[in-house]
Amino acid sequence: MTTRTAISTRWHSRFSFILAATAAAVGLGNIWKFPYIMGENGGGAFVLVYLVCIFAIGVPVLIGELLIGRRGRNSPGFAAQNLAKESGAHKSWQVTGWMTMGTGFVILTFYSVIAAWAFSYIFKSASGQFAGAGTIEIEEIYTNMTGSVSELLLFTSLLIAATVFVVGKGFKHGLERAVRLLMPAMLILLAIIAIYAAQIGDFGAAVNFMFRPDFSELTINGVLIALGHAFFTLSLASGVMIMYGAYLPKETSIVSTSMWVAVADTFVALLAGLAIFPIVFGYALTPGEGPGLIFQTLPLAFATMPAGILVATVFFVMLVLAAFTSAISMIESSVAFLVEKFALNRWQAALTSGLVLWTLSLLTIYSFAGAEWTVLNWHFFGTEMVNIFNVIDHITSNVMLPLGGLAVALFTGWAIKGQFTRDELGGHPAIYNLWRFCVRYLAPLAIIIIFMQLIGVIRF
Ligand code: PHE
Ligand code: NA
Repeated sequence: MTTRTAISTRWHSRFSFILAATAAAVGLGNIWKFPYIMGENGGGAFVLVYLVCIFAIGVPVLIGELLIGRRGRNSPGFAAQNLAKESGAHKSWQVTGWMTMGTGFVILTFYSVIAAWAFSYIFKSASGQFAGAGTIEIEEIYTNMTGSVSELLLFTSLLIAATVFVVGKGFKHGLERAVRLLMPAMLILLAIIAIYAAQIGDFGAAVNFMFRPDFSELTINGVLIALGHAFFTLSLASGVMIMYGAYLPKETSIVSTSMWVAVADTFVALLAGLAIFPIVFGYALTPGEGPGLIFQTLPLAFATMPAGILVATVFFVMLVLAAFTSAISMIESSVAFLVEKFALNRWQAALTSGLVLWTLSLLTIYSFAGAEWTVLNWHFFGTEMVNIFNVIDHITSNVMLPLGGLAVALFTGWAIKGQFTRDELGGHPAIYNLWRFCVRYLAPLAIIIIFMQLIGVIRF
């Protein structure tokens, strides 16, 4: 076997890492998905369960991933391989790295298309298409957009090109710098919208909805959705955090930085709720509209609110920034892998990844394109008409993420030498033991239950 060189690049500072990891975590999951699943699952009680999932299961797995990356010092597949070997564990444990890396890449193939929706909405907003529009017009704008191959091709290509450009420029001058500029910009825009929403919308109703738990509204399925989303929102089980861990300096505390990232991601998710729900309630719209909450429900309010054109434009710019920094984080591990495996330079590796990504993104684009492309619209699971996007989304979110999280928990809890994990985590023994209990027992059990529920083996 050829000897791979360990990654020698390091984050500029602890803050720079927290910023980048938060930028990776904060994305469509926080602003598009979290509000609508909260809306569908009754608000406050769901939020409470979600918080428990983030801190009891998400954070321990996040700690595990950073640890694998830092100890392994390579892209996720090789890092897990190194660590399994070093621990004298069976070499099949390396699947933890390869599988999560693959999942991240596949997520990116549809993530960039949803980001492209938001991108195209910037121009629709700015050109005043929503101004004065009613339900039917907005519905039409939405279906025309998702059905337009040329439009989505344009915006997806632009997004992927920008991602390749940033990652190709290298770690320090590309990724680290881009995040330092874009993440604060995104936060400022979100804060502006939240403040404006509190002025023009029904802030009290939103706070009530989000923070007054009504457990009669919560179903067991809602609990499981909260758990699954905890993985997605923290970018776990997708190679991202293992990769970012490989750039962590030895002396940075993994436990406390993980807490910071989780707190920041949660803060943004709640802030997104506080930006969206006052508008939803203030304009007498319904919170439980599902995935169309941002693309179909919210524009109804933009249509009539004061300065609606401006607010809508700022909103979708903010959404694209959030999605873009996540896309950068998702492509980084495949780029690092190509550099390690084939000795490519960053540009070659970024272009190669980008090309593969672009090709695979066509599957999602054509999934929405309707009748002419029926070859990609399968009858799946019996009655329902499901397109290939639904299949990819379902398999990655509901199968690959829980399985990857399970693999990370078991790998770090049972397979890696305890001496290594203690060495990496340091700190107070009580905290270490708490973490170890979570990855050995709590997280695997919770994940197995959610997973069996999602594939329909057990039904509550
Ligand atoms: N965490 C991102 C979000 O909330 C999504 C994501 C998942 C990013 C997996 C990278 C990897 O939008
Ligand atoms: Na997130």
